[in-house]
Amino acid sequence: MEISQQDIFALCQTFRKVSVYDFSDYSYKSLYRRVEKILTDNNITIQTLIDNISKDYNYLESVVNQITVNTTELFRDPEIWLPLRDNIQRRFSNSQMIDIWHAGCSSGQEVYSMLILLNELGLFDQVSSFGTDINEEVLDVAQHGRYRYVDINEYLPNFNTVINHGREKEEYIPISKYISSNQQRDYIQVAPWLVDKPVFIKHDLVSCTTFLDRKFDIIICRNVLIYFNHDLQNKIIDFFYNCLKDNGMLIIGRQESIYGNHTEGFEKSGGIYFKRNRRNLYF
Ligand SMILES: C[S@@+](CC[C@H](N)C(=O)[O-])C[C@H]1O[C@@H](n2cnc3c(N)ncnc32)[C@H](O)[C@@H]1O
Repeated sequence: MEISQQDIFALCQTFRKVSVYDFSDYSYKSLYRRVEKILTDNNITIQTLIDNISKDYNYLESVVNQITVNTTELFRDPEIWLPLRDNIQRRFSNSQMIDIWHAGCSSGQEVYSMLILLNELGLFDQVSSFGTDINEEVLDVAQHGRYRYVDINEYLPNFNTVINHGREKEEYIPISKYISSNQQRDYIQVAPWLVDKPVFIKHDLVSCTTFLDRKFDIIICRNVLIYFNHDLQNKIIDFFYNCLKDNGMLIIGRQESIYGNHTEGFEKSGGIYFKRNRRNLYF
């Protein structure tokens, strides 16, 4: 189905006109691909899509969900979790409270990974954990902590790489400590005491507004910025800077970077960006 640049522009304009959503600063390429898929999957033209969005708010919300890419997994990219574990252990062992925000948390696997890690470090009770996403459907899955049975095949090696790193086989912590499985009914379920811990909230990063009146020790926003253009990425990095406590940590995706003078607010070490103690850096 043919889509022109003007079509994408008209779609973004319609979103802005009839809703709070603004996709104008999403990466053009990835937005194009998602829109193309929506048109093919639903067998409609771009004009029908635009018309329906203008007429029906529920339809519009379903298109927002279809635009987002929600791929995630437990302990995704395990190599970042090991330096993260060491830094958390070093910095927060004597802390009263650790405030963590997972921005663009999708269906919650990253949030539960962090809670499992913190539990193994004996820091579970000190944590307040927030997961936010623009997509209500994935937040609903996150809230229940229930995933497909087949996913365990990906999750188990990641879990062992991070949680059983440096342990002899006989001392391995079993994943069943945190996740039960039911092959017959085709699901795995995060333990209820873990599911009860995080708060999941719908939040649009594009707005660069806070969802809570507090600063965070750790902000994790992995594999989200990649869907935005550079201007929006920089705006959100500045926003995160202001949302972090001094010396707070920012973790972005393996294929994502902070560019130009936006790096000045952070010291990078072991794949983690540490906020420098400088106030109002870009404001
Ligand atoms: C690829 S997933 C990344 C999930 C997880 N952080 C990870 O790395 O495994 C990207 C998530 O970003 C969310 N997202 C996209 N645009 C967003 C926005 N404007 N505000 C908040 N979340 C957004 C999507 O809904 C999706 O769940």
